[in-house]
Amino acid sequence: MKWWQKKSVYQVYPKSFLDTTGKGTGDLRGVIQKLDYIQSLGVGAIWLTPFYPSPMVDNGYDISNYTEIDPRFGTMADFEELVKEAAARGIKIVVDLVFNHSSDKNQWFLESKSGKTNEKADWYIWRDEKTNWRSIFGGSAWEFCEERGQYYLHTFAKEQPDLNWENPKVRQALYDAANFWLDKGAGGFRIDAIVYIKKPKEFVDGEPDSDGMSSIHNMTAATDGILDFLREFKEKVFDGRDIFTVAEANGVQPKNLSEWVGKNGVFDMLFEFSHVNIMFENGAEIWHRAKLYKLSDWKKTLTESQKSTKNSWYPIYFENHDRPRPVNTFFPSGSDKILAAKALATILFTLRGTPFIYQGEELGFENTKFDSIDDYDDISSRGNYDLARADGLSDKQAMKFVQKFSRDNARTPMQWNSEKNAGFTSGKSWLPVHEDFKVCNVENQEKNPDSVLNFYRKLSKLRNSSEVLISGEYEEFFPENEELFIFTRTLNGKKFMTLVNFTTHEVNLPEKILAGGKKIAGNYSDEKNYFRATEAAIYEF
Ligand code: NOJ
Repeated sequence: MKWWQKKSVYQVYPKSFLDTTGKGTGDLRGVIQKLDYIQSLGVGAIWLTPFYPSPMVDNGYDISNYTEIDPRFGTMADFEELVKEAAARGIKIVVDLVFNHSSDKNQWFLESKSGKTNEKADWYIWRDEKTNWRSIFGGSAWEFCEERGQYYLHTFAKEQPDLNWENPKVRQALYDAANFWLDKGAGGFRIDAIVYIKKPKEFVDGEPDSDGMSSIHNMTAATDGILDFLREFKEKVFDGRDIFTVAEANGVQPKNLSEWVGKNGVFDMLFEFSHVNIMFENGAEIWHRAKLYKLSDWKKTLTESQKSTKNSWYPIYFENHDRPRPVNTFFPSGSDKILAAKALATILFTLRGTPFIYQGEELGFENTKFDSIDDYDDISSRGNYDLARADGLSDKQAMKFVQKFSRDNARTPMQWNSEKNAGFTSGKSWLPVHEDFKVCNVENQEKNPDSVLNFYRKLSKLRNSSEVLISGEYEEFFPENEELFIFTRTLNGKKFMTLVNFTTHEVNLPEKILAGGKKIAGNYSDEKNYFRATEAAIYEF
């Protein structure tokens, strides 16, 4: 077993974590200050979302220099201190590689766009003609550049031009950047949007949607030949290092995971999206077209991922900086949100794989709500709003979907205490702090033995110390049941069973299922022979 299989990972979105200077945005020193807190969650690594120089069109996922620190986040010395201080607590720092695209302010792009004959002329994807592809953030995926007299491709915002991976010099420059961070002591990588790096041979129009465009995701995700690039990436960067790699891969199906991860794969883990995007057709996140889904379908996605990573490994997650808060997403309205947060934690820590905790999840954070689209910072919220309006929805109808799915839901600042701005900043917070901060904050939850925070700590400890929970085999029971999620983990005759009631009413348990078992954790302290609203428990056999 590797170190990253035995412990969880904590994801920090530095901009919203802790501001140590009063500028209104968080910084690396803020992460250093809170290392003891992070350590108390029993994690072995921190994944930091991008802190590199960036115009911040997409909050750092538009990188203008791959090997420096944006002054808003601090200095290289801060990064080095963070690596050192974290190591002193048994924690590694995992950095985010955004290699599908750079910022349009990156020197590479500035040179590339200056003409057709410069050294970096084909470092990006230039064409004389455009297709009808719609970018993931909305609008055409092609932008005309006057200077060069051609269009360039951008899977995301127009300020995020796609790099041309067909060019070996581009690939080498990216590998050099990755190696730079390993030499600085990084313990691994989270790799952004990797499924889009390989483009199809021919660029042709896709089936048009109501806006006449076709989602770029459907045209370019996981294109044949992508694994050749990734094998090279692995060989030039990951091989021989004691690190982990987890790649973001919307569009890779659970059944194909074995080609991507494990012994014959290219990464250690893959964030696939089937459980978090279950409400979207083909993974294209068009919020106002979200569909209802059945619990059995949701459970099936998790079970498929568990099965297809039986001989490899899986990153268990329900939240990150791109997702609405899961207590609002995966439980019916009317559910008690504290019970729901603990119920998700029981699944997070008992499935097979490395649990990823996103800041605030351990406190049971809920979605936020702004009234006007102008109050949203998230670029994808604006794109989705425009698409909904173009599809004929009123402002009010479109806003309902923005409030439900906006990425700003996950980006409201950490709530440390009940003081001004929840202790996040002494200045003006870049995004409003959630209105529940006086009640829901670290300081309050530290004091309450029954808090979500202390539940996370307890389960994290349980998982870290249990061979069964770390490597035991997964089996799901009653997959057709539309109220309960039940699964076991088994190793050498020892067994744990997780049970979660996803409804807001009492549910009878399948007969004798708990016979011989002993409850070791749960979000209700006592036991009944039925499961109450949102009840979750772990039994040991
Ligand atoms: C996925 C990142 O998690 C997201 O925040 C970003 O907007 C896109 N990739 C583009 O880099």
